[in-house]
Amino acid sequence: MSFFNGIDQLPLDPILGLPILYDKDPRPEKVNLGIGAYRTEAGLPFIFNSVKKAQSLILNKYDKEYLPIDGLTSFLAVTIESIFGKELNQIGKERVYATQTIGGTGALRVGGDFLKKMEKCTIFLPQPSWPNHKPIFEKAGLNVGSYPYFDYNSQKLDFSGLCQAIENFPVHSSILLHACCHNPTGVDPNREQWKQLSHLLKKRKIFPFFDCAYQGFSEDFENDSQAIKQFALDGHEMFIAYSFAKNFGLYGERVGALAILFDQLESREKISSHICSLIRGNYSSPPLHGAQIVSTILRSYSLTKDWLNELQHMRDRIKEMRKALVAALLVQKGNKNLHAVFEQKGLFSFIGLNKEQVQTLRQEYGIYIPFSGRLNLAGLNTTNIDYVVKSLSAVL
Ligand SMILES: Cc1ncc(COP(=O)(O)O)c(C=O)c1O
Repeated sequence: MSFFNGIDQLPLDPILGLPILYDKDPRPEKVNLGIGAYRTEAGLPFIFNSVKKAQSLILNKYDKEYLPIDGLTSFLAVTIESIFGKELNQIGKERVYATQTIGGTGALRVGGDFLKKMEKCTIFLPQPSWPNHKPIFEKAGLNVGSYPYFDYNSQKLDFSGLCQAIENFPVHSSILLHACCHNPTGVDPNREQWKQLSHLLKKRKIFPFFDCAYQGFSEDFENDSQAIKQFALDGHEMFIAYSFAKNFGLYGERVGALAILFDQLESREKISSHICSLIRGNYSSPPLHGAQIVSTILRSYSLTKDWLNELQHMRDRIKEMRKALVAALLVQKGNKNLHAVFEQKGLFSFIGLNKEQVQTLRQEYGIYIPFSGRLNLAGLNTTNIDYVVKSLSAVL
């Protein structure tokens, strides 16, 4: 009788399970549009040259001692500057506390744990959202609700639906907002809608919890955090869970941060004490290498310039793939809702695929997409796009 006899088998993660299915598929024409990472025109993972240069610079410079519980100080400074940009002076550096975390996921979880500790136990997520949001906050012990976000008929933001829902949130609950490049839909509020949202949330005393995992994938690095800056200038207190996985290609290095904006200066030490206690009792302190890479790049003028150019190249390739896909699908299908897909931002796109269509794409065409219907545009390239368009046209 084994100690483990009583445990059952849980299903594969809907996204992380996909590569396993894809790898098993023997068809040479198969395409993986399910991953949550950038791929080059050749379909390969991409390491930034600026990252390689930074790695060579830090190779013999640092020891491998433990970091403090809340992370590398120089990394935290550049993270705060990345989020708040030139507006930081106006917002007030002294009103921001940040802690390094194990990726953006770790930031969401530490933020969730802190909400629970403060007995602010309800959070609302957009419907749909990144599938990991719900389990992260549930495992932190929060009550997880949802609000309408995407109108599947028009393929656009359901702005009136989401505003109506917010009117009914209990006071002092939290709302999860994707800072840009909403995952999975690619649909973001425009500037005017962000202003209205900020006003409404302030009026209703709802706490904004931003998830910023794609800064640099929409318009450009500086503008992609404009919603956060707007909220900060409007006087909100808030959390920002930040990931450097995508915009530095540092997925496996697990580089993230939780930034906390607060009103009263005396809150800093109290916040820091709770965050450090939560982290110490979980994984003790964060990893070193990725944070050193980010801080080395962002503190060097020339490395920052190189990195921004590489980021732009990535952004441009994704945009080109989006344009080519939608233009070709429009020729084949002439569906007017596809026009809305041109407006979507970032790595991901919703083109209105349902579960049956996703299943047919897997079984008959070897095209792998999660059941949410989320396409990763970076999985497209000039070699596979015709095949993908033909297959999508057949099932749509
Ligand atoms: C919306 C969103 N938030 C957070 C994360 C987590 O980022 P990390 O890999 O840094 O944990 C992801 C990763 O895919 C994401 O898409």
